[in-house]
Amino acid sequence: MRRPVRAAGKPVGQVREVPREPRAGGARGPAEDFPPATTARAPNAHRTHPGSIALARIVSLPRRRDGGRHINIGCSGSGKSYLARHLLDELGPRCKWIFTLDDKDARETKYAGAQYATVADFEAHPPAKDERGRRERRIVFRGDKYAGVECPAEDVAQLARKFVQAGVPVCLHYDELKRAADGKSGMHWTAPTVKWYLTEARSLGGWFIGSSQSGKMFPEEALNEAGTTSVFRQKRKAARYLVDVLDLDDELATLIPTLSEGEFVLLVDEEDWDGRIYKL
Ligand SMILES: Nc1ncnc2c1ncn2[C@@H]1O[C@H](COP(=O)(O)OP(=O)(O)OP(=O)(O)O)[C@@H](O)[C@H]1O
Ligand SMILES: [Mg+2]
Repeated sequence: MRRPVRAAGKPVGQVREVPREPRAGGARGPAEDFPPATTARAPNAHRTHPGSIALARIVSLPRRRDGGRHINIGCSGSGKSYLARHLLDELGPRCKWIFTLDDKDARETKYAGAQYATVADFEAHPPAKDERGRRERRIVFRGDKYAGVECPAEDVAQLARKFVQAGVPVCLHYDELKRAADGKSGMHWTAPTVKWYLTEARSLGGWFIGSSQSGKMFPEEALNEAGTTSVFRQKRKAARYLVDVLDLDDELATLIPTLSEGEFVLLVDEEDWDGRIYKL
């Protein structure tokens, strides 16, 4: 089970001193995607720290040659995919392949890399080497909604497993972790190899990244196995669920619903919450 995360004695009431970065990556979705805060945060209640510090922590946490497991949770438009993009950039030098399943929006590609509809397409036509002998190592599986073709989450997990078992470090990334779980209750994996990947791949150098709008949309074991979890804005009820299930400090139940776009708290396994809000 996950450790208790406590923040007793953490400093509060400090001045927000890190200037906001201009928003990159274009317009966000409709306004209702990112609902107004349900609880007003006292101005300057917490300083916002550069997200690069959190990224460095996430990437450097596993021992050398081990992989890591990171979960992003937050409401729509809170910044999960934005963080995932930066995290994948950081993992580039460590992973031979980065396999992303990003099939939410048929029109919008959120991740850089070679795009494939299915794993079978990738296996039939892997990226060719360019004139400098390099090949694209970031692979984005998207299905083809126009042709009614889906890319099953299980296929991507099996592909990743095949590589890590052969000693090749792979990052398996689900932009919507619920694709791998029972859509209604989230109580079991519909992609059973995800369970294997979560529990076995780390020591073989496999990285796992999964994002979800709610902690209830996938089996709880993913939260328990995660070395790091970034929590973005959540509505009060969803924040309360996380705080209860992970035994977090009660302050987070009131703080999480007040986070702004891109702001997150970082939970590190076996460590107290550092009392900080981060933003990339
Ligand atoms: N730290 C940030 N700095 C600048 N812009 C950001 C930051 N975080 C998020 N954004 C912008 O906010 C918008 C929503 O972010 P993002 O797509 O990552 O949300 P999401 O949590 O993945 O939402 P969904 O659950 O709907 O996929 C995007 O336009 C993104 O570029
Ligand atoms: Mg997203």
